[in-house]
Amino acid sequence: MTAFDLTGRTALVTGAARGLGAAFAAGLAGAGADVIVVDRPGVDLGPTVAAVTGAGRACHPHAFDLADTEAIAPWADELRRAHGPLHILVNNAGVAALEHFNEITVAGWRALMRVNVEAVFFLAQRVAEHMIADGVSGRIVNISSKNGLVAEAGLAHYNASKGAVELLTRSLAAELGPHGITVNTIAPGMIATPIDGEFPFDRAAFEAAWAERIPLRGGYGRPDDCVGALLLLASDAGRYITGTHLVVDGGVLADQMPRLRFMPPYRNTL
Ligand SMILES: NC(=O)c1ccc[n+]([C@@H]2O[C@H](COP(=O)([O-])OP(=O)(O)OC[C@H]3O[C@@H](n4cnc5c(N)ncnc54)[C@H](O)[C@@H]3O)[C@@H](O)[C@H]2O)c1
Repeated sequence: MTAFDLTGRTALVTGAARGLGAAFAAGLAGAGADVIVVDRPGVDLGPTVAAVTGAGRACHPHAFDLADTEAIAPWADELRRAHGPLHILVNNAGVAALEHFNEITVAGWRALMRVNVEAVFFLAQRVAEHMIADGVSGRIVNISSKNGLVAEAGLAHYNASKGAVELLTRSLAAELGPHGITVNTIAPGMIATPIDGEFPFDRAAFEAAWAERIPLRGGYGRPDDCVGALLLLASDAGRYITGTHLVVDGGVLADQMPRLRFMPPYRNTL
């Protein structure tokens, strides 16, 4: 058994039907955890359930709309009654919309904040109370973004929501530390998923420009490129890590400007 082993633990992953959430659920199961997987009503969790059970772990699918903030606490109580103590919470579900700052409506702002900020906080709030009552040294991992650390045009509400996730994570880490519960974020960079939905411009050109901007060979990341960070933060291996973020971005935030593109080609001097 290694420090990354999660045998005997139960994890909850929100937004688990596709993208990063599906990879997180499969990765946690691969490390030995049973997984409660959650997505919006009407969204097919079948492939994620197959991946978790295929790894030999129990999987409990639940349909729940996290935008229904008021319902989160009673719903989390139901999950605890049904599946017992929770050891790992992965607050992954999130939404994005590409809009100029002046096109963002009050309704659009609130809809995004409900899922990206309110649901993250109020689910962590209830689950942390369960962990304390159950005597569990739990792990809470919130999925923020490089946009929670550095802004990007056309995403004012999304940037603000992810900045909020960063600071509420540190706030909870400070309050939950005495209970042995760690709270951290993973801040992904450009990962190939369907998240941005409809693009109001040439998506292929945009993605090609981004891919060139990423220092690490290969360009965009894949959802399972973020799984190693989660297993560190969710396991005993990460027991002294709390109140911080792990950036998984292929070096984007490390490089202010893609200067290499304008320099003479690299020459090996050996
Ligand atoms: N893909 C990226 O490049 C990237 C980069 C940085 C951060 N992130 C963050 O990672 C997380 C996952 O992103 P993704 O790219 O996998 O997105 P995605 O759109 O592929 O998947 C998100 C999942 O969350 C679910 N979801 C959305 N709203 C929900 C709600 N109200 N209730 C329940 N489930 C809901 C969706 O149905 C979907 O299955 C998000 O928080 C996102 O902001 C993604």
